[in-house]
Amino acid sequence: MNVPFYGHQRQYLSIKDEIDAKMQEVLMSGQYVQGPMLKQFEKELAEYAGAKYAIGVGNGTDALWLAFMALGLGEGDELITNANTFFATAEAMWIAGCTAVLVDCDPRTKCIDPDAVRRAISKRTRAIVPVHLYGQCAPMREIRQIADEYGLLVIEDNAQGIGARGDDFAIGELSDAVGSSFIIQKNLGTFGDGGAVWTNHSYVNDRIRRLRNHGSNRRDVHSFGFNSRLDDLHAGILSAKLKHVDEWSNRRIQIAAQYSAGLRGLDFIELPVARSGYHHVFHLYVVETVNPADRDPMLDYLVKNGVDAKTHYSIAIHKQEGFPWDKPTRIAGSLAHAEKNAASCISLPMFPELTQEEVDYTIQVMRGWRG
Ligand SMILES: Cc1ncc(COP(=O)(O)O)c(C=O)c1O
Repeated sequence: MNVPFYGHQRQYLSIKDEIDAKMQEVLMSGQYVQGPMLKQFEKELAEYAGAKYAIGVGNGTDALWLAFMALGLGEGDELITNANTFFATAEAMWIAGCTAVLVDCDPRTKCIDPDAVRRAISKRTRAIVPVHLYGQCAPMREIRQIADEYGLLVIEDNAQGIGARGDDFAIGELSDAVGSSFIIQKNLGTFGDGGAVWTNHSYVNDRIRRLRNHGSNRRDVHSFGFNSRLDDLHAGILSAKLKHVDEWSNRRIQIAAQYSAGLRGLDFIELPVARSGYHHVFHLYVVETVNPADRDPMLDYLVKNGVDAKTHYSIAIHKQEGFPWDKPTRIAGSLAHAEKNAASCISLPMFPELTQEEVDYTIQVMRGWRG
């Protein structure tokens, strides 16, 4: 049996009529950039997120740096995030001219460690950028408290967490802005690139709407800006998919529970930890090998046996060749847990259209590892 890592076509086929109808609607409207479908999707997304404003942009990386810029962050400003995130979290900081400050993660959840954030604060610190890694919310209450104590902004990197919740907070409730990605493989993914910012600040909404469109919100009138818009075709696909995202996340949660039940007790891997009361939407199901030396052979073994496992992310940001490319950066404290995560992580296939046979087979193969 071959268990794929992604199920993009399966998802398309499962709601083909709804997606095709949206694409037809956009094509027939004659308006493909900042047209009516983008407006409609932005409204639906804001409602879904419980935010006052949602702004569609070109991708999740742009969502982050546009949010940083709109909040007035730039040169000389330090932004703190965890080292074991996708590269784009730090990249967005550099694009905005900010200093990326990398801290360690919580060894259990892999999300940012609030104590490490606290220790990293300097007089240049202006913002914290918690990442809802693998689909689990970062500890936003603790982050909010630190931000309040030191007068910092908070921008959530929600590329992996749409639909997730904390125990007593929603994404966006405790921050200044949220950046999301809609790239293909995300829990809400289009057939290409896309992203959005949501916020309750009207000035952030106004600024991003101008920044994404050549500094313009009126024909022929410009200030400095960029071109980063969510195309209407993508907005249409996302509008069709948004109606299903919670049911898809529930299926992911069910698969994660089956993986965890089937793999419990194996002494060569550690299973993902969901914080009590948190609604973890399992964008990824990431195990860690107890012995980092097992990771590459285990990955090889899984792939050879038909289970398309991957790594997220096997080289931490600060270990990339050439780091930090003359970009303003500070490593704050030990990154031992982030480094252990990079050395030992394995992501098992995780998408809502996985069949029961594929889930069972993945468990069976994993259980058969002999080292
Ligand atoms: C945590 C995280 N941040 C940012 C991004 C960037 O999003 P995009 O690829 O849409 O630019 C991604 C995903 O790709 C991500 O996983």
